Amino acid sequence: MSKSLQAIRGMNDILPEQTPLWRYFEATVATLLDGYGYRQIRMPIVEATELFKRSIGEVTDIVEKEMYTFDDRNGDSLTLRPEGTASCVRAVLEHGITGGGQVQKLWYNGPMFRHERPQKGRYRQFHQIGVEVFNLAGPDIDAELIVLTWRLWGLLGLRDVVKLELNSLGTSEARGRYRDALVEFLSARLEQLDADSIRRLATNPLRILDSKVAQTQALLNDAPKLADYLDDASLVHFEGLKARLDAAGIPYVINPKLVRGLDYYGKTVFEWVTDQLGAQGTVCAGGRYDVLVEQMGGKPTAGVGFAMGIERLVLLIESLELVPAELARQVDLYCCAFGEPAELAALTLAETLRDRLPGLRLQVNAGAGSFKSQLKKADKSGALFALVLGEDELAQRVIGCKPLRGQGEQQTIAWDALPAHLAANLKQSVE
Ligand code: HAM
Repeated sequence: MSKSLQAIRGMNDILPEQTPLWRYFEATVATLLDGYGYRQIRMPIVEATELFKRSIGEVTDIVEKEMYTFDDRNGDSLTLRPEGTASCVRAVLEHGITGGGQVQKLWYNGPMFRHERPQKGRYRQFHQIGVEVFNLAGPDIDAELIVLTWRLWGLLGLRDVVKLELNSLGTSEARGRYRDALVEFLSARLEQLDADSIRRLATNPLRILDSKVAQTQALLNDAPKLADYLDDASLVHFEGLKARLDAAGIPYVINPKLVRGLDYYGKTVFEWVTDQLGAQGTVCAGGRYDVLVEQMGGKPTAGVGFAMGIERLVLLIESLELVPAELARQVDLYCCAFGEPAELAALTLAETLRDRLPGLRLQVNAGAGSFKSQLKKADKSGALFALVLGEDELAQRVIGCKPLRGQGEQQTIAWDALPAHLAANLKQSVE
């Protein structure tokens, strides 16, 4: 295929072999969030460029170099959303649903776009499930978000491979005081800093804390610590969060260098990281953004949330071989009919079964094929039973019911008795 017709680099098809795991993951998260009273919101994929500049921050990597920005036919500058928090804040403001202190607990799922260098776990179109909570300012809600993700790791079997890192960024005043101290310290040691960090010293000095350069990290060991500059309210909030996590028995480590790559955070920030995915080990990340709503023109409104990268979690589940075995089964029943009269009868019989057994996953073979090749297809589908309908069966109004997973011999069942027979046997096979 000519290159110009291929998918864009870093933007992947999710093929039929992969979608069962995606759907399992998404359904697990959706059911979990339902259980905590969160409601889904769906935002557009394209927003005004200004929205992301104002919220994420002009001098972040995302806004400086990763956004897919274009002029539409009216000449308006639009951007494919690089994340969901900005859009969610815009939506709640636009619809007034956080006004008067109304609590909103929201979640969303969808594609995000960043022009990063693609590698394992890092793509240009990727998918996030995100959660945003408005008008709850205490540490109890920060704890709830962490508790519910911990429950999710439990459901997925991932508790042993993810680690929670926590930090507090304090208020913007506290960060301002710290920023001055850090800049003063590093400016006196410019010759020991890498080029990227020197550039950040003027634009976004706190980001130097998560520099990947070893020499810079060594230098930072002696630098002033953010924790020493935190305001009292942020300290109390952070202690409150830690106490709740301790009470819930959730292990965490304090990472004083965790600053996050988006400017809207203050107080709590956290990341769930794994060492099983190579360089792209952060599977879920978030924090508090109490000034963002006001910064975007709303009344002061507390905000906190997180987003998880679906690709990374799916990769993790696959690499640890935690994919539930039943996902390999596309259908419960595979019906093979031989000859046109039997094919016609199979069609109506299949519809009767669908009526009688709601939720049944039944595939009727399409097109001709030898008995052997049909059964091979039936087996490959993962079905528990093959239904076999040929001329003889048709004449006698019966059907062959062949167990495909070693549950005994083929049986001949009268059409009328088939729904009851299947209901009992399918249930038994699954158990
Ligand atoms: P973020 O840290 O930029 O935060 O992204 C959250 C998660 O999305 C990451 O931890 C990662 O799992 C996934 N992710 C990010 N970039 C990529 C990529 N290029 N390829 C694959 N996965 C990726 C946010 O987006 C914030 N909006 C989170 C938040 C919500 N904070 C408060 N509320």
